[in-house]
Amino acid sequence: EKGNYRHFMLKEIYEQPVVVAQTLQSYVRPLEGKVALPDIEFDLSEIRRVTIVACGTSYYAGMVAKYWFEQFARVPVDLDVASEFRYRQPVMEEGGLALFISQSGETADTLAALRYAREAGQIIGAVVNVPTSSMAREADLLLPTHAGPEIGVASTKAFTCQLAVLAALATNLARAKGELTAEEEQEIVEHLTEAPAALNAALSFDGEIEKMAPLIAPARDVLYLGRGPDFPMALEGALKLKEISYIHAEGYAAGEMKHGPIALIDDLVPVIVLAPSGPLFEKTVSNMQEVQARGGKIVLISDRKGLDAASHGVMATIEVPAVHPLIAPMVYAVPVQLLAYHVAVTKGTDVDQPRNLAKSVTVE
Ligand code: F6R
Repeated sequence: EKGNYRHFMLKEIYEQPVVVAQTLQSYVRPLEGKVALPDIEFDLSEIRRVTIVACGTSYYAGMVAKYWFEQFARVPVDLDVASEFRYRQPVMEEGGLALFISQSGETADTLAALRYAREAGQIIGAVVNVPTSSMAREADLLLPTHAGPEIGVASTKAFTCQLAVLAALATNLARAKGELTAEEEQEIVEHLTEAPAALNAALSFDGEIEKMAPLIAPARDVLYLGRGPDFPMALEGALKLKEISYIHAEGYAAGEMKHGPIALIDDLVPVIVLAPSGPLFEKTVSNMQEVQARGGKIVLISDRKGLDAASHGVMATIEVPAVHPLIAPMVYAVPVQLLAYHVAVTKGTDVDQPRNLAKSVTVE
């Protein structure tokens, strides 16, 4: 039931603080200051390589996880979309962890990729939202998301719950690899515990995002830029916009702009910049300024400090709370979801049932 919401998508966007809290409950022990996974029958410290495979939005969650696993746990990660992975005859050393991420747990290409990895002697992990699904049944290590049924075709709450589980897994892996002290883990637990409140804070800017939707709705093309874990969030923002508003949108690593796409920039192409304050902020902002210098119209998404430092001359800003890097992608998901939603509503498209798309892609 949609309740008071006009669309399932909006309802599901608003459910995120609750379902992320629900999901984290199975992975975080706040009183002990520890992150805990379900019983595992293998030693995480022996994992030498992680392979992550998924499709669409779930793939972008995996891409965020690659940054985390490498940065925090210092474990090398291979990442691919399932439709490529399953046919490119990937080389896998036995005993690696292969991780499959899927809301439905039934996506045909991801399931085929899982079976390939099983044949190749991998330990199979699955981050899935449907506990009775094929992927859930076939996994050695089942890491459920507790997002509840997702009805809107565009994935929203399942995605943020995937990020929550992957943040917990990154923390566990980092501890197993000796890359994390007990104090650091305790600190991460505190940040994870605050994630639902941060999501609520991000939702509180909904009214402002709604007001700026008419600035984006007439565009034919929109670019999204980000660096580090915000690069996959730029890809996710672009995917959300194109699938429900039918506006052509591309996500780019901010530093790649000058290698081609900047040729597209004129005052008709809005550029959405995701730039949390932190070590990469200055770099992203300088890419943003290159776009501004060519007449590009910027929407800057950042925290208060970032907005104060870099809003000069931008078309619009969206504020999000300042949070730990393990929480930031969840928090940045909210404005890109809301922006896509309000632009689609402004254009009058069918938000919950976009043309040509199915909720579960069980054929390849
Ligand atoms: C985009 C979207 C799709 C799915 C993709 C994978 O909003 O929903 O890109 O993420 O079809 O589906 P699952 O996660 O069920 O494997």
